[in-house]
Amino acid sequence: MQQVAAIPAYLHETYWWAYVHPGAVRLFERQWLVNLILWGNFAKLRDAALAELGETLPGRTLQVACVYGDFTSRLSERVPKGASFDVVDVLPIQLANLRRKLPAVAAVNLLNRDAADLGVPDLSYDRVVLFFLLHEMPLEIRRRTLCEAVRVLKPGCELVIVDYHRPSPWHPLRPAMKWILRHFEPFAMDLWRHEVSEWLPPAARLLRKETFYGCLYQKLVITR
Ligand SMILES: C[S@@+](CC[C@H](N)C(=O)[O-])C[C@H]1O[C@@H](n2cnc3c(N)ncnc32)[C@H](O)[C@@H]1O
Repeated sequence: MQQVAAIPAYLHETYWWAYVHPGAVRLFERQWLVNLILWGNFAKLRDAALAELGETLPGRTLQVACVYGDFTSRLSERVPKGASFDVVDVLPIQLANLRRKLPAVAAVNLLNRDAADLGVPDLSYDRVVLFFLLHEMPLEIRRRTLCEAVRVLKPGCELVIVDYHRPSPWHPLRPAMKWILRHFEPFAMDLWRHEVSEWLPPAARLLRKETFYGCLYQKLVITR
């Protein structure tokens, strides 16, 4: 796939081992491994996002950034004839991996774009989903990504976010997660210290927040 969007520095510097290097894709593209990384919660979190988005997805759906595992395949099964489903990612290697793992019949448009600069018109989509993307981003890119997700959303439609959250003080995995995130995912601790709503643009309104697994994960539903 032709590289159109410039690859942000933080992906090369912080996440080369997870997304950029071809060996990373070979290693991580395993359902059991992404499930292990989420302490056995992948299916629960995937299904929470899918349930929020709806049984069928008429109109236009946008997933910002690829996800290892079967999240996108499951989403694509809900897209009826005549509807459209776009997936954006800044890394061609991730889009190529997604194309390989999607069923041949899945009508999914893959777009090489930066989440912080989608380059599509305002009010284009009936729903937008960000699945474990925000915790990987430096603050300014995270803000711009949220602005873009809200900008392209039609009024009254929903942006669904699933990501990390500050775990309860008694959570047995809290010390281990703190160590893992500090060493491997340095921007993620921002989601422990702040509410995502603090980074939303003024047009956005938080409708619902739900936490999972002792508050280690959250799902947010946002509208405009
Ligand atoms: C959604 S996140 C992580 C999801 C989850 N940890 C998983 O199991 O895959 C990973 C994806 O985000 C993409 N990504 C990171 N920053 C991006 C940006 N600024 N624009 C578009 N895609 C981005 C990476 O290329 C990668 O494919």
